[in-house]
Amino acid sequence: MTPIRLLALSGSLRAGSSNTSLLEAACRLAPRGLQIELYRGMADLPHFNPDLENDLPQGIVDLHARIGAADGLLISCPEYARGIPGSFKNMLDWLVGSSTFPGKPVALFNTSPRASEAQAALRLVLQTMSAHIVDQASLSVDLLSRRMDTTAIAADPAMSSTIVQALGCFADCIRLMQQDA
Ligand SMILES: Cc1cc2nc3c(=O)[nH]c(=O)nc-3n(C[C@H](O)[C@H](O)[C@H](O)COP(=O)(O)O)c2cc1C
Repeated sequence: MTPIRLLALSGSLRAGSSNTSLLEAACRLAPRGLQIELYRGMADLPHFNPDLENDLPQGIVDLHARIGAADGLLISCPEYARGIPGSFKNMLDWLVGSSTFPGKPVALFNTSPRASEAQAALRLVLQTMSAHIVDQASLSVDLLSRRMDTTAIAADPAMSSTIVQALGCFADCIRLMQQDA
C-alpha cells in the first residue's frame, strides 16, 4: 500500500518548544504506512507580500512543494497574546494563494488546554483557506504544566497512545477521502 505522507508544522520557533516536541514524538511514533516530515523552514520565510506572489521567493516555492507533496498536515501551534503567533500566521498567509492547500486534510494538535483562543482563531483561518480539519484526528494534551521533551512524550504510555490513535485515525480518514475523490 502506498504510504501516507504527512507534513508537520509547528507554530513555535523556540528551541525547547512543546509544540515541536509533540510533533517530533509523532514522527517517532508514526505507525507503519505513515511517513511524517517535520517542516523546519518557518524561521527563514520572508514576510508575506502579495507583490511577490507572481515571482515567489525560493523558500516559498519549497514550502508550496512540500505542502503539495503531503497527503495531510499535522499542525501544533501555541497561543501568543490570545492569538496565532505572527510567524505561523505569516506562513499561512503565504499558503492562501497555493493551489494545493484547499481540501488538504489537517489534524490539529494542541499542547496547552488554556490556548482556546488561538485554537479557535486557527480553525477560522484554516477553514477560510478551505482546509479539511479532521476533528477525530485532532488532540489536546497538557504539556504546559509538564516539562517533557520529545523522548519523554514518546515514552509516556498515555500520551503516546493518544498520539498513535490520532495518527491511525488521520491515516484512515485520508485514505477514505482519497478513495472518494
Ligand atoms: C509572547 C508570548 C505570549 C503568550 N501569550 C499567551 C496567551 O495569550 N495565552 C496562553 O495561554 N499562553 C500564552 N503564552 C504561553 C505560550 O502559549 C506557552 O508558553 C506555549 O507553551 C508556548 O509554546 P512552545 O512551548 O511550543 O514554544 C504566551 C507566550 C509568549 C512567549
